[in-house]
Amino acid sequence: MTRATILVVDDEPNILSSVRRALELESFRTEVAGSGAIALEKLAANSVDLVLVDVMMPEMSGLEFVEIARERFPEVVVVMMSGNATVETAVQATKLGATDFIEKPLSTEKLLITVSNALALDKLRDQNAKLRAAEHPEVAFLGNSEAMAQVFTTIERAAPTKGRVLITGENGTGKELVAKAIHYGSKRADGPFVRVNCAAIPSELIESELFGHEKGAFTGAQTQKRGKFELANGGTLFLDEIGDMTLEAQAKVLRVLQENELERVGGSETIKVDARVIAATNKVLPDEISKGTFREDLYYRLNVVPIHLPPLRERKLDIKLLVSHFVTIACEENGLKLKVIDDSAIAALSGYSWPGNVRELKNVVERAVILTGGKQELSSSDLQSMLPGKHFSAEFVRNTPLKELVAAAERELVTAALLANDGHVSNTAKELGLERSHLYKKMKALGIRNE
Ligand SMILES: Nc1ncnc2c1ncn2[C@@H]1O[C@H](COP(=O)(O)OP(=O)(O)OP(=O)(O)O)[C@@H](O)[C@H]1O
Ligand SMILES: [Mg+2]
Repeated sequence: MTRATILVVDDEPNILSSVRRALELESFRTEVAGSGAIALEKLAANSVDLVLVDVMMPEMSGLEFVEIARERFPEVVVVMMSGNATVETAVQATKLGATDFIEKPLSTEKLLITVSNALALDKLRDQNAKLRAAEHPEVAFLGNSEAMAQVFTTIERAAPTKGRVLITGENGTGKELVAKAIHYGSKRADGPFVRVNCAAIPSELIESELFGHEKGAFTGAQTQKRGKFELANGGTLFLDEIGDMTLEAQAKVLRVLQENELERVGGSETIKVDARVIAATNKVLPDEISKGTFREDLYYRLNVVPIHLPPLRERKLDIKLLVSHFVTIACEENGLKLKVIDDSAIAALSGYSWPGNVRELKNVVERAVILTGGKQELSSSDLQSMLPGKHFSAEFVRNTPLKELVAAAERELVTAALLANDGHVSNTAKELGLERSHLYKKMKALGIRNE
């Protein structure tokens, strides 16, 4: 059996060398990185199975690293290493997708057990996901508005073909779900569904990410790596956030779409690929074309079958159905007896504008289900209090210094934006027009996050 490759990330050289030694004695292959940024470069350049990462690091924190790594390298298992003071943060990291954490001081025994458990768990999850997809190939995608009826018809017609599909719509309207519904409704359902978040990949890495590279193609490329196009062979490649791809990368993707073949970076062999391409964006591509930020020829290549998802505020008829679906899921997941949402609650929800669309609705319903504890029937007041934009009481305004009022309003706005983006900091920052690091600082200052 070939042993897994483990990347160790810590700003303390002593930890790097001792952990590396312990792992290599057990014949794991290892890589080390002294910072989150270096670790991300190594992940892009090598096949890594598991990352052991320190919580407290200068520059990019362990938490920030987890978020970026989970987005860009979802197949990699992440385990946090935390000091006493940072256990809380390590727990938070598991919510962002880290598999486990291990407390410092590290003992070799503890280290090896945690690593093997995390690898075993990951394997199990893979198998479970495969089983689930086999049992329920249909992805629950609901709606009873006229607009959604049209979307369903288009999905049904487009799924069995190999036609490229371009899905558009605001954040959280269900674009990814449409892509999956098409994949699972196609003859390629048994093949892979590979998602690439084009917005999350730095432009200098996109080529290697999409097309792969040969060993030694560039500094740091220590092993050969297959790109997403190749990984999606026989299945579907979902190019998410295509509107955020650089013009340079667009040119390269266009070539592959025209010729159905590619060369890995640093390679001379021409590789045939058979991947159905589905793209999605929350941008209006014709606008981007007139601004000169999106190639018109690529747009026509991608937009063979267009599917537009209207914002939730324009299809409020869907709210009731979606709410009962999300209530069922939330009760099941939390081991609660099925709760009922009465009509006054639906009316309250219908009065809200849903800037975060279905994702925001799902989060609000989940929170309401959890926070109402044993209560069986939820009415408008239970849900109203979950919605952002409550006004501050006159008394609060009178008795609070302006500085604190501004902070309170800011806290509420940032929280609402995070909620609408599933807690995803990079996406929230983009929506608010802030740098990600700036948003992190702000969240800390506002007490939304304590690291
Ligand atoms: N019609 C629907 N029926 C059931 N669940 C839905 C529906 N639409 C969206 N959802 C749920 O809402 C959440 C957001 O959907 P999804 O991730 O597909 O949106 P998106 O358009 O890709 O968002 P973003 O632009 O932010 O990436 C998911 O949890 C998804 O399961
Ligand atoms: Mg999406």
